[in-house]
This record gives sequence, C-alpha cells and structure tokens, in this order.
Amino acid sequence: MAGKRTIIDWFKEADQGGYAVPAFNYSDIWDMLAIVDAAVEMRSPVMLACNPLVAKAIGVEVCGGLGKTVMEQYDHPIYHHLDHSPTPELCYGAIRHGYPSVMIDASKYELSENIRITGEVVQVAHAMGVAVEAEIGRIQGKGIEGDFEGGDFLVQVDEAVKLVEQTKVDSLAVGIGTAHGFYKGKPEINFERLSEVNEAVDIPLVLHGGTGIPKEDIQKAISRGINKVNVGTIVHVTYMQNLRKSLDGAGEAPYTLDVVKPVREQIKQVVKGWIEVCMSAGKA
Ligand code: 13P
Repeated sequence: MAGKRTIIDWFKEADQGGYAVPAFNYSDIWDMLAIVDAAVEMRSPVMLACNPLVAKAIGVEVCGGLGKTVMEQYDHPIYHHLDHSPTPELCYGAIRHGYPSVMIDASKYELSENIRITGEVVQVAHAMGVAVEAEIGRIQGKGIEGDFEGGDFLVQVDEAVKLVEQTKVDSLAVGIGTAHGFYKGKPEINFERLSEVNEAVDIPLVLHGGTGIPKEDIQKAISRGINKVNVGTIVHVTYMQNLRKSLDGAGEAPYTLDVVKPVREQIKQVVKGWIEVCMSAGKA
C-alpha cells in the first residue's frame, strides 16, 4: 500500500538500484492525474511537486487535501511534495495539510542563514514524520520554480557538509549548472562537483531543472549520486500547448472534460518518457 514506505526509503532504494525517483510539477488536478496515470502504468514511484505559486493560487489546504486523497486512493508509491518553499511558514502549512515531503529553499542566503532556516524547518517536519529537502548552491535560470541568473551557482563541498551535518536535512538539491526553464544552450553540468558532494555527504542528492537536459546527462548524474530528478517546465508547456490545440478543435461550446481528455493523455506520454529517463519504471 502506498505510504507504507517513506520517500526516504525510496531514495535509498533508488540509490542502491541505480535510478532516480522522478518529481513532476503539477498546476492543477488534470496534470496531477496525468502524472499519476503515467506512474501507475509504468509502475514507477513518483512525487507530485507543488510549487509555491500553485500552493498559493489554489490554497495549500486544497492542494494538501487533494494530494492526501490521491496518495490514499491509489495503491501506489505517490508522494505529494512542496517544491521550493521560500519560507518556513509555507512549509508548516503544507505539513499541517498532509504533505509527506517539503522543500525549504534558503539557498539565496549565506550559509549560516540557510542552515538556521533549514534547521528550523527540519525540527518541525521531523516531529511530524515529514521529509525535508534543502538547497545549496543555486539552480540557475528563469522559470516558474525559480529565478537566478548569476554566475555564482556552484555548490561548495564543505558548505554542503556543514548544512547536512548541522540541520539533519533528508535530501539536498545541489547547484551544479542545471537551470529552471528551457536551456539557452547545451546544459553544462559540473559532474565532478556532483561526485565530490556525493562522496562527502551521505544523503540523497536532487537534480533540479530536468527539462532540456539530455537523457545521457541525467543518467550520468544518477550514476553520480542523484536520487531525485525534478521536471516542471515540459509538463506545464505540454499542458498549455495541447490545451490550445484541443480548444481550437472544440467548436463554439466546448466542454471542459472533452477538451482536457486528450491533453491529459499528451501529458501522460511526456511523463512516461521522463520515467524511462529516470530508469524508475517497474520499481514500484
Ligand atoms: P524544470 O522546470 O526546468 O524542468 O525544473 C523543474 C524543477 O527543478 C522544479 O523544482
């Protein structure tokens, strides 16, 4: 039954099995269900990632209720996750409303402040049995999930060690050259630094900015310690582009469910492709 194993159990399993648990950003119920359809069909564990814009627009209570029901209704390892929370308060709202996993993103602060904020969230979350992801270094790019264009993005190994030791955080997003949104050129991932961090810390590492990274690079990153891969932009764009197509062909009095049905299928296909890339098919 889903939920018996924690997401941390799955990360350990992924580490030993040489794959990553994929995390897909949803915007509403239709792409959320398309992600679930794909994961169930492919027998892959999956995370339903809720970015702060979605959490605020729909309401963390409603998102939480939805996520909780979906996790309970499917006999499948599905984990609702709050992505890139800029504040502890939003994490606490998510924890109150049943998210089994939250990310506190204090990476824009200097190390001591990142440690203080992350540590505070870990204390509260762990008391409630909730897993916490932190970030160190910066994820580049301009996207729904974040916005950072500076050159100073690379994770420092000693800083990652301090953050993990002092906060007891469960997983760590690392700045290694990946970016949110579409890449302007070929992504330049610093695999050496990824390996160094993986050697130095004992917790699962997370790759953000999945959209646009070639399959070979994702799989190389997995072989060097990545146990969770985040994919957002391609889900949002597939949704909106196919919605437009579907609406264009829907006549004068379109009905929501008729319009959305083919779109859900298109999103499912994209998600299935990413499950293949993460090598998580058949693991659930
Ligand atoms: P992309 O939108 O670039 O796929 O990144 C998603 C992400 O990292 C969410 O945290």
